[in-house]
Amino acid sequence: MSTVGVDLGRRRFLTATTSVVGAVGAGFAVAPFVISMQPSAKARAAGAPVEADIGKLEVGQMMTIEWRGKPVWIVRRSDQNLSDLATLEAALLDPGSAVRMEPEYAKNQHRSLKPEYAVLVGICTHLGCSPTFRPDIGAEDLGGAAWKGGFFCPCHGSRFDLAGRVYSGVPAPKNLEVPPYMFLSDTRLLVGEDKGAA
Ligand code: FES
Repeated sequence: MSTVGVDLGRRRFLTATTSVVGAVGAGFAVAPFVISMQPSAKARAAGAPVEADIGKLEVGQMMTIEWRGKPVWIVRRSDQNLSDLATLEAALLDPGSAVRMEPEYAKNQHRSLKPEYAVLVGICTHLGCSPTFRPDIGAEDLGGAAWKGGFFCPCHGSRFDLAGRVYSGVPAPKNLEVPPYMFLSDTRLLVGEDKGAA
């Protein structure tokens, strides 16, 4: 099924543009690589906050932006995705965020400010590969009916749900990081700054 995202680890060093991938099927809508470092790109690399326009992000889609040289995923979850999150806790290593990997305002079941949108640093907490977006519920290669969508790390097989919570029994020891962020409007997000809780 979908194998989108396998190249994110490489691409994050090559592009400061945004890509959007769909929940089902075909894969990337990839903007051209932008290799030259404009001043704004330099500022981003140094850690400046990065804005994301989520106005065109449809339910089931993920977009990727770059913040501090790292990929940050924004996923628009469906109502089904959100209700599935509540059913997964027994299979997760740290569903209650005992190890803090998110700001205070994201310490909840969906690990986000707004339930609909997940915002996650797309780097595996095992050894730093970039996992693959696998929203395909029931994927045979990921456990069939038990798989409710999430992220799969191809390096050593770690799995995370659509809130970035790590499954038990995989190499990754922690949930995916939630960066600081805030909503500037219903369709604009600022990653890297939260003014205390957005
Ligand atoms: S780096 Fe992801 S499982 Fe090892």
